Amino acid sequence: MSSKSVTIAHFSDLHLSGKRERRRIAFLEKLLASIERAGCDHIVITGDLVDTADPAEWALVKEILQDAGWFSWERASVIPGNHDLTNIEEEMRFYNAFNPDPNARKRRLHKKISEFCTLFRELITGDERVAGFPYIKSIDYGSQVISLVMVNTVWPWMNLENPLGARGYVNPAELEALRDPSVVGALKDSFVIGVFHHACRIYETGVPIDQAFDWTMELRNREELLGTMGTIGARLLLHGHFHRFQSYMAGGIRVVNGGSFRYDPERYNEITIREDGSFSQRFVDL
Ligand SMILES: [Fe+2]
Ligand SMILES: [Fe+2]
Repeated sequence: MSSKSVTIAHFSDLHLSGKRERRRIAFLEKLLASIERAGCDHIVITGDLVDTADPAEWALVKEILQDAGWFSWERASVIPGNHDLTNIEEEMRFYNAFNPDPNARKRRLHKKISEFCTLFRELITGDERVAGFPYIKSIDYGSQVISLVMVNTVWPWMNLENPLGARGYVNPAELEALRDPSVVGALKDSFVIGVFHHACRIYETGVPIDQAFDWTMELRNREELLGTMGTIGARLLLHGHFHRFQSYMAGGIRVVNGGSFRYDPERYNEITIREDGSFSQRFVDL
């Protein structure tokens, strides 16, 4: 980076499924090395690190980041996606076998979120303490402070309301906490970036079959999330989930979809933030 700008590399939706996937792991190592060579200051991964919600596979991602020298609070931020937290087959089996109450599903999801936050605690709190969502990382680069506002949008699987486990929802209490005047005041002098997994805008093609698909993927209370991001002065929002590389406006804020490493492992989103608070965005092909 030049001394007056900060560069963030953002990618998403790795969907790794174990050490057997040597080719995809090699691509991830190559991507991390390219980002290093490009002089990026920080990487952001917006969820779906793995495919089957298996914590052993999260650990593989952690190991790859550690080996590449990216696993530190200053250098990397991650959030979980639906595929990190929900194994649909397992959920359906439970449902068919025991017909459990919805609160049991919520509890399972929260347990999984706290396991995720424990494994990645160095990236969340920078030490041994474990924190949950939402959380804010304000990183002081000398010339400027960048605040990453990390929000969980993964919603529990439900047979009727969330049949694929891919619909998103943010707990309104978490958004209310972010809108607290003390938080808004603390973020006032930094460049604020909202980070979450689900998309603010999906297909919108007008074709009925796509619309049916939209419904299963959507972020249910996206307007509330966008409103909150506006209140806290977010300049930029980063997400994944909908596997397309896109840059668009929503709620008056620039939004970038980091696409999917699974489908194009040689592409990432690069954000350059200058000292005067202006920024530019481009998709980089290796
Ligand atoms: Fe995904
Ligand atoms: Fe996803």
